[in-house]
Amino acid sequence: MRTHRCGSLRASHIGEEVVLGGWVHKRRDLGGFIFLDLRDRDGLVQIALDPGQISAQEIENASGIAAETVVRVRGVVRARPDDARNPEMATGDVEVRASSLEVLSVATRQPIPVWRPKGEELPSEELRLRHRDIDLRRPELQANLILRHKLLQRTRATLSQRGFLEIETPILTRPTPEGARDYLVPSRVSKGQFYSLPQSPQIYKQILMTAGFDRYFQIARCFRDEDLRADRQPEFTQIDIEAAFVEPEDVFEAIEAVMVDLWDEVGESVSAPFERVAYSEVMERYGSDRPDLRFGFTISDFTELLTGRGFGAFDEATAEGGRVRGIVIPGGSVLSRKQIEALTGRAKQAGATGLATLKHGDGKLTGPLAKLEGITAELVSLPEGGVLLATVGTDSVTSTALDAVRRGVIEYLGPEPLTSHAFLWVVDFPLFEYDSDSDEWTFAHHPFTAPHDEDVSLLNDDNLAGVRSRHYDLVYNGVELGSGSIRVSDPNLQLAILHRLGIEPHEAELKFGFLLEALRAGAPPHGGFAVGFDRVVMLLAGASSLRDVIAFPKTTTARALFEQSPAPVSAEELGVLGLNQADG
Ligand code: AMO
Repeated sequence: MRTHRCGSLRASHIGEEVVLGGWVHKRRDLGGFIFLDLRDRDGLVQIALDPGQISAQEIENASGIAAETVVRVRGVVRARPDDARNPEMATGDVEVRASSLEVLSVATRQPIPVWRPKGEELPSEELRLRHRDIDLRRPELQANLILRHKLLQRTRATLSQRGFLEIETPILTRPTPEGARDYLVPSRVSKGQFYSLPQSPQIYKQILMTAGFDRYFQIARCFRDEDLRADRQPEFTQIDIEAAFVEPEDVFEAIEAVMVDLWDEVGESVSAPFERVAYSEVMERYGSDRPDLRFGFTISDFTELLTGRGFGAFDEATAEGGRVRGIVIPGGSVLSRKQIEALTGRAKQAGATGLATLKHGDGKLTGPLAKLEGITAELVSLPEGGVLLATVGTDSVTSTALDAVRRGVIEYLGPEPLTSHAFLWVVDFPLFEYDSDSDEWTFAHHPFTAPHDEDVSLLNDDNLAGVRSRHYDLVYNGVELGSGSIRVSDPNLQLAILHRLGIEPHEAELKFGFLLEALRAGAPPHGGFAVGFDRVVMLLAGASSLRDVIAFPKTTTARALFEQSPAPVSAEELGVLGLNQADG
């Protein structure tokens, strides 16, 4: 039906007769002459309808043609006159002089425009999601989904070349805990029983290792019923890998190869290996386990330097075991009073009692900390033109507060980044987390993560904070791209860890019996990783929301506005599933 895609025509096609099919993006009537911008997934091309070349009937049809109508055009590619070239269009050197125009499908429904005048805002996101079929025609979304396709293919190629086998795992599964709620699917055949949609393929990929597949990957769809934010979707995609007989370094190497190739796909050169830093160290230096290393402004401990100098807030909190921590910001004295107030607000919101400042300008020290006995710029290494922002409290409070302050400073000062691509492996996370709401220890990631060999003996301690795990995260420019770990491959150690979390053996067998059985049948040491694929596409597409890189995304209330799901079902359907209360 067609010889070329609209967006593919170039000067090299001049003189060729072509047949194109596409959507009418825009129509311009210029006194008898009609120009159409015809669009397909490759882009736009200008079609010239010249009354001398095409029948009066066809011109008349075209003059009333609605945007988004689908047409087929036959014509000859010719060079545009010099003054009519459009350098902003990839096809801007040429146009197609039509000899026939066939209307294939009239667009009678136009709830939102695809073409809009330059500078005009998009319709609201809600309206666009409601009419996703039309919004997907927008060249930006087309480019994002085309990029997504390329990234998927590149991932498959890179991992296949490295000996990873693509194996699919079930969607109707047993629950796999990843810290969110499961989506449940009722069984019609076994009434009263439910499948879970996988939060991740975690258990299955471990079983594949016990079965000897050695290196597995999957572009895995995962489902999590959790409170959503811009960077979360209830169903999302992971690049999921697992490998046997590996150390963390082997996993890092495989994931680094994928990252280098995916960034290469958009023409960005990044070099591996990426930096590796222990969790305790990133928390000390940045107050966050996903710091943006494109920028400096690291946190330092000022407890010794700034206590005992008559600043009550510091002396009192440190006497209770807190620490004074702060960030020296060279050039930071340009921060306005309003900005410092806003930074203080962020620190307080994070639980800090306040944010104390020391400014160094015109050779003088100013700000509340200037009153400290014996304070000098040299004492705190504060350069001329700089500011010190400091707070005091427990490590968890000062970390959260100074992370927020650091982000704010970067936002306000907009410093030159030290690098464009700051990849970072954060290693040696704690295995357990204390949940003060329930007053219980819980797993920091998932219960299959191995502890450090040297820390296994600490599993019996009351305080589990010191048990380091063999978990690692990959961070890019302050965004968590993925996480993984070396797993527990000893079934007894797995039972001991579950026991420590209050899951007794009978419950463990009930919930994870199929994994424990597999571990008892000869299990190699193994570990793996999962990259949040949607996040990678979002970053590489320069999009600001996951919704812009997923064909049919959900809203933050987990609704699909286009196809209208979730939706009620009839009492009869519920009855068939054994879910109708009246039917017991
Ligand atoms: P984790 O739960 O950390 O690990 O998930 C891995 C990565 O998946 C992405 N991600 C999400 N993306 C979009 N929407 C969501 N709701 C969402 N939740 C997570 C993040 C995250 O870093 N089984 C382990 C991996 C392993 O241990 O091998 C797991 O799923 O980018």
